[in-house]
Amino acid sequence: MLLLCIESSCDETAAAVVRDGRQILSNIVASQVDVHARYGGVVPELASRKHVEAITVVIKEALETAGVSLDDLEGVGVTRGPGLIGALLVGLSTAKALAWARKIPLATVHHMEGHILAPFLEQELEFPFLALAVSGGHTHLYRVNGIGQYRTLGQTRDDAAGEAYDKVAKLLGLGYPGGALIDSLAGQGDPGSIRFPRPMLHKPGFEFSFSGIKTAVWRYVEEQSGPITGDHLADVAASFQAAVVDVLTAKSLAAAEAEGLSRIVVAGGVACNSGLRKRFKELAAGCNLTVTFPSPSLCSDNAAMLGVPTDFYIESGSVSKWDVNAVASWPLDTVRLDTL
Ligand code: KG4
Ligand code: ZN
Repeated sequence: MLLLCIESSCDETAAAVVRDGRQILSNIVASQVDVHARYGGVVPELASRKHVEAITVVIKEALETAGVSLDDLEGVGVTRGPGLIGALLVGLSTAKALAWARKIPLATVHHMEGHILAPFLEQELEFPFLALAVSGGHTHLYRVNGIGQYRTLGQTRDDAAGEAYDKVAKLLGLGYPGGALIDSLAGQGDPGSIRFPRPMLHKPGFEFSFSGIKTAVWRYVEEQSGPITGDHLADVAASFQAAVVDVLTAKSLAAAEAEGLSRIVVAGGVACNSGLRKRFKELAAGCNLTVTFPSPSLCSDNAAMLGVPTDFYIESGSVSKWDVNAVASWPLDTVRLDTL
């Protein structure tokens, strides 16, 4: 089945053509990063306007790159939520209009569902597995029993991991978005030089908290007599990253063990992080675990990742009705029921 997928939940306008939920024929992402960088974060109203400007251009490019026309499409998939409501509505309205006009089925998909199923675009995986979903808005551990069958095991009580990266980058004067900037600086620093806290690490359960690490970095910066630069800046970045990676990996391993799972998928923008990838690889080698990361271009926001659930939902008859609406917040656990 030839699918067009559309993603517009935050600050990336994305469209992809995917065959049978597995083969990417095109995956176009128009980032609005330059628009929001001067404000130090995503401005929702600007994001919606930019999506309106970009969406038809991005879809056209996705079709052209794939070498297909609107007539060839057999289904449309789109992110219904969670995300910025105005931004989501641009993608959803476009997807509805296209599917309705072409008389082809529409499937609405949860943004994090796309993220955690992205590895299927590169390899087949067996269910069940544990998913660590780490992005700008999420830090969640899910038990994934199949497509549409998710159970939340734990989540952050406050900031998401990506949000903590972005806020720490801002207070270190590095710019926005900060995750990749801190990651590359961290590679040059000493992760053991400053001992930042590891919140929730020794508490039972699978909840996270990142606002304390962010505050600890803020206090450390405030205590310094001048601006932090050079090797010192790299040490702060490396020490912050070490704290985040310690908590994410320890909680994931504990959750996998408690659930009797030997496979972990790490997904979302923060899954691009080189420190996280390295640590998971080391841990997996020592304890009979398979840890899968999608390629970086499939970790950050894109539309191809929606192809996996879209294909499944349309094939199994979970097609959305024309009055389906966007949802700003949406627990993944109920996604299948809501889609039907
Ligand atoms: O999944 P994503 O592209 O968008 C959301 O759904 O939020 O994730 C974006 C987040 C941002 O907070 C960004 O700073 C973070 O992912 N990120 C990283 C890295 N690359 C992107 N965080 C840590 N290390 C990275 N290399
Ligand atoms: Zn995302």
